[in-house]
Amino acid sequence: MSSPPRETTFRFLAEPTDVNFGGKVHGGMVMKWIDQAGYAGAVGWSGAYCVTVAVGGIQFVAPILIGDLVSVRAKLIHTGTSSMHFAVDVLACGLETRRERLATSCVIVFVALDGADGKPTPVPPWQPQDDTDRKLQDYARRLLELSRSMEEETANLRPALQ
Ligand SMILES: CC(C)(COP(=O)(O)OP(=O)(O)OC[C@H]1O[C@@H](n2cnc3c(N)ncnc32)[C@H](O)[C@@H]1OP(=O)(O)O)[C@@H](O)C(=O)NCCC(=O)NCCS
Repeated sequence: MSSPPRETTFRFLAEPTDVNFGGKVHGGMVMKWIDQAGYAGAVGWSGAYCVTVAVGGIQFVAPILIGDLVSVRAKLIHTGTSSMHFAVDVLACGLETRRERLATSCVIVFVALDGADGKPTPVPPWQPQDDTDRKLQDYARRLLELSRSMEEETANLRPALQ
């Protein structure tokens, strides 16, 4: 059997049904695409059912227009015991201009679950191959630390939020 793919790319056209009130693709739809590409990458890497556990560092940097060719690239940048961290870039390209631009980026984390008991289950480890990989892995680890400290802050604020 071939080794599991590190990268997964979805390609499709932004459709009129994806539009928001301002005529651009709405953010919720972009997040759905990110989740789908990440899910395909996570299941492909682990061979197990996976759930989304966190999204970090999301930035909407440019709008996507109806009719743009959209590419959603999910690249594995870190594995823990049961978690897989994917850097996802959403790129949009006008078919006529053929100019591709970064529209959205983030890191999305999935956890593989055991089919029998639904508990987190180990995934094949991923090892960085070069300096770029090591930088990406450090970034994933820093986001994880940030996410943990934000969890603590949110837990402390919970009474005030209710
Ligand atoms: C995912 C889930 C099963 C983990 O359960 P848990 O009891 O927290 O399990 P653990 O504490 O052992 O954590 C499992 C992994 O999740 C990771 N994790 C948990 N919270 C995280 C967060 N906020 N950010 C990043 N990773 C996180 C842990 O670091 C751990 O990774 P590791 O095994 O690589 O070290 C549970 O949180 C869950 O069911 N969440 C809801 C998922 C969901 O409904 N998603 C939306 C629909 S798909």
